Amino acid sequence: SILIVDFGSQVTQLIARRVREAGVYSEIAPFQSAADAYERMRPAGVILSGGPASVVDEGSPRIPDAILESGKPIMGICYGQQALTQQLGGAVERGMSGEFGSAFVDVADGCQLFDGVWGEGERHRVWMSHGDHVAALAPGFRSVAASAGAPYAVIADDERRMYAMQFHPEVVHTPDGAKLIANFARHVCGLTGDWTMAEFRAAKIQEIREQVGSGRVICGLSGGVDSAVAAVLIHEAIGEQLTCVFVDHGLMRAGEAEQVVSLFRNHYNIPLVHVDAETLFLSGLAGVSDPELKRKFIGKTFIDVFEAEARKIGGAEFLAQGTLYPDVIESVSFTGGPSVTIKSHHNVGGLPERMDMKLVEPLRELFKDEVRVLGRELGLPQAFVGRHPFPGPGLAIRIPGEVTKERCDILRRADAIYLEEIRLAGLYDAIWQAFAVLLPVRTVGVMGDARTYDHVLALRAVTSTDGMTAEAFDFPGDFLPRVSTRIVNEVRGVNRVVYDYTSKPPGTIEWE
Ligand code: XMP
Repeated sequence: SILIVDFGSQVTQLIARRVREAGVYSEIAPFQSAADAYERMRPAGVILSGGPASVVDEGSPRIPDAILESGKPIMGICYGQQALTQQLGGAVERGMSGEFGSAFVDVADGCQLFDGVWGEGERHRVWMSHGDHVAALAPGFRSVAASAGAPYAVIADDERRMYAMQFHPEVVHTPDGAKLIANFARHVCGLTGDWTMAEFRAAKIQEIREQVGSGRVICGLSGGVDSAVAAVLIHEAIGEQLTCVFVDHGLMRAGEAEQVVSLFRNHYNIPLVHVDAETLFLSGLAGVSDPELKRKFIGKTFIDVFEAEARKIGGAEFLAQGTLYPDVIESVSFTGGPSVTIKSHHNVGGLPERMDMKLVEPLRELFKDEVRVLGRELGLPQAFVGRHPFPGPGLAIRIPGEVTKERCDILRRADAIYLEEIRLAGLYDAIWQAFAVLLPVRTVGVMGDARTYDHVLALRAVTSTDGMTAEAFDFPGDFLPRVSTRIVNEVRGVNRVVYDYTSKPPGTIEWE
């Protein structure tokens, strides 16, 4: 495996992705606890991430000595390069200006990192983002590539198997970056690149059996991919010791609740308790239009209903959750201040303590797209595995203002047409998330010869890699007019359709 030491870069997760894409297992640890992580993992190599600090400053983050002295291969990126250089006896200078964005490096010499990727004398595009730069190499290093702003764009010490670069190989704007990272993992660290989902599945099944023993596990299904994949994996490990509870808040999209129930009961024959709580949720939402109040009510009610069902089943000591790696990584904080709550996310956090249960979280090491691969490996239908993310509070946060059954039904019909057209156009997989929002605004229209006075519906579709930032999807020219016509013609209650072009930031993906 490979350990990635996080110095607080915005793109540290991408390093882990690239290493795993090379078929090598990797984990991220913040620099403060990297020595412990090294001890526990005993990795074959270490990658040092970039970060916002300056090694020139007093008290800046350091590479743990245990890692520097381990004799294991090390690759430093940006801040990682500067820290490596400084701690091994070289010098780093604060730049008068930085280099940000696309740049070119000239390859001056070969090294193991470049094998089969970059040749001597070639020029290649890379992505730079730095203020400081290496001014004098540490003993043992030589420069193997240079850019206009960084004479030591890539440095190498083949003997100690240490490599470092000023640019960011993990981002897509460095076209050959993934290959350089794969070279480090395979050639330099000598890892075979055979980490596969089949292996992960087998190892996890063993782990779940060991953790649970003959105990009983309850798994709350949200209707989404993560909890479903976790449940199917756990069922494969412990069979009937698992009971799934699907709290159906009546705020799902058209047909989705039915799909979940049928997937578990018919496709897998996994015991499933389907709690139809639509009335409970809708009556509690009556008169509520503040987004945070909606979110809090739904989150709390979800836990209440789940807890009541769990008590009826009785005797379970374990609670299964589909927690993913991005939720687990401790983020490196330099400011130390509490961040602002933009939205209270609905999840089942707080449940385990309240119910005095131990957690089973078999997806803790995986990224979203890896969960999809595992889902396919476990035989989940592609249509289910490839589903766009769907928020816990469901349609309630796609109906600004008061949520009523009637409004949910209107939204469900319009949303279904939108998604049907997206699928027909072959665009579903190119989009991170697409959905409709029913506005509490009414406008005047004319249909036939009659005046209408009905709701406005907003359509949203975004591309994103992790939901943290997003951009509006650009549909081909005739797509939106076609969908708009269909919705106004087929959905009673909507007479106007608009498209939301806002990116995130400054917008968010959901409207509430
Ligand atoms: P925002 O609207 O904050 O959404 O840009 C980012 C991503 O998170 C999803 N989302 C949620 N997911 N519980 C969830 O499980 C929630 O309460 C929740 N709110 C938003 C949203 O759909 C998008 O993918």
